[in-house]
Amino acid sequence: MSRLAGKVALVTGAGSGLGRAVAIRFAAEGARVIITDIDGDRGEAVAKSIGGNAAFIPCDHTKTADDEAAVAFAVKTFGALDIVHNNAGGPFTGSFESVDDATLERVLRTNLFGVLQMTRAALPHLRDSAKRNPAGASLLYTSSLQGLKAKPNFSLYTVAKHGIVGLVRSLALELAPQNIRVNALCPTVIATPMLEAFLPGMASDRDEAMNRFRATIPLARMPEPEDVAAAALFLVSDEARMITGVALPVDGGQMAM
Ligand SMILES: NC(=O)c1ccc[n+]([C@@H]2O[C@H](COP(=O)([O-])OP(=O)(O)OC[C@H]3O[C@@H](n4cnc5c(N)ncnc54)[C@H](O)[C@@H]3O)[C@@H](O)[C@H]2O)c1
Repeated sequence: MSRLAGKVALVTGAGSGLGRAVAIRFAAEGARVIITDIDGDRGEAVAKSIGGNAAFIPCDHTKTADDEAAVAFAVKTFGALDIVHNNAGGPFTGSFESVDDATLERVLRTNLFGVLQMTRAALPHLRDSAKRNPAGASLLYTSSLQGLKAKPNFSLYTVAKHGIVGLVRSLALELAPQNIRVNALCPTVIATPMLEAFLPGMASDRDEAMNRFRATIPLARMPEPEDVAAAALFLVSDEARMITGVALPVDGGQMAM
């Protein structure tokens, strides 16, 4: 399969869960992939499992210097940067009133500021890529179903994920004249390490919680990270050359209810 042949993609938070599945799928489709993650061991392991078409650089996307270094590393290692998937994020659950300033800062930095910072660092190279490719360069984001709707006790996470959808719509218009497409994925609950961090705030019994999630999904099955990777692949590929400004649910039909 070679739907991304010749492309260089950078994926944040690619050491685990959804980002890992995306990086593996992009590489399987012919891309050369820069794995970035704040967790060195996990990121390195994913790059190693992919082989010569992947390279890892540690990157805390909330640090502009890290983002700029990761982007420069992509260009130095593989010669270009055509696709950036801003995927890194972290959990938050709890009552809004009890949130202290440190939590506010941490959750918004991890889920929104870092995304903005990496986007800014990548733009000069995406612009170069877009000049070479008639189908454009591609910016992709992992928002969440919480970027389109809401539930109680997810306030900060929901603020950040709605913020990403707003960013996508605004940047899609701003960058369209430069042939850079900008889209988001909005997955429902998926069994990744991050979900395990959410669960204690949502239910006391894990199996019962999973059964309850499944019961809310019209297709009556839980999505896998690979389902998100398949949607990511389409949106960043040249097949989606006319698609920009979209926040695509990967939710088995929940948004239709
Ligand atoms: N799992 C779900 O149910 C779900 C649903 C919707 C959206 N999402 C979103 O998907 C994305 C990936 O989540 P996941 O479920 O794969 O979680 P995960 O915990 O498996 O992976 C997240 C990765 O991001 C990395 N990371 C965290 N902070 C970082 C930082 N500051 N800089 C760089 N890397 C950092 C972590 O080290 C980790 O490897 C997140 O943005 C999350 O909000 C997840």
